[in-house]
Amino acid sequence: MYSDQHVTMLISETQLKTRVQEMAQEMTRDFQGKELTVVAVLKGALVFCSDLIRSMDLPLEMEVLGVSSYPTGAETTGEARLTFDLTKPLAGKHLLLVEDIVDTGLTVDFLKKTFEARQPASIRVCALLHKPSRTRVQVPIDYMGFSVEDHFLVGYGLDYEERYRNLPFIGVLNLG
Ligand code: IMP
Repeated sequence: MYSDQHVTMLISETQLKTRVQEMAQEMTRDFQGKELTVVAVLKGALVFCSDLIRSMDLPLEMEVLGVSSYPTGAETTGEARLTFDLTKPLAGKHLLLVEDIVDTGLTVDFLKKTFEARQPASIRVCALLHKPSRTRVQVPIDYMGFSVEDHFLVGYGLDYEERYRNLPFIGVLNLG
């Protein structure tokens, strides 16, 4: 198994699997009979989203989108930008935004506002992880995997300078 002296395991592969299945079951109930579009936010949510949809027992469409993190200094204004947009109109669709982690909340806040303008039937937010102590903008998280302390996390899609996305668990990165 891949290991690294700088990473300490926080959430195991088994814990992830169990929680992702629970979330998928809840979504299967909630979106029954609805035109569902699941949107994975690149790149961090890809691993989580691919496990999630395989446990969702209902018809759905999947899309991906890219969003730039705010350039240095812009965090205070919450300025973000779509770098890769959806391929289909959202009007009348039930949208499920899938994020890896809600940290300050600025990204999800930006995405919700952007997609509300496209008049979907509904927008729900799903985040595998939430760091409540870092909140700058309150955003409703309809489906949340784990609430975590303010550590820098890697693995299961999350990166540090593009590395560690392929770890099967979530770990704390210690670069000291
Ligand atoms: P926001 O601050 O809620 O807008 O989060 C923006 C993005 O920062 C998230 O979607 C993640 O891609 C990234 N991010 C925040 N915290 C972490 C972390 O602990 N590890 C890796 N990426 C993170």
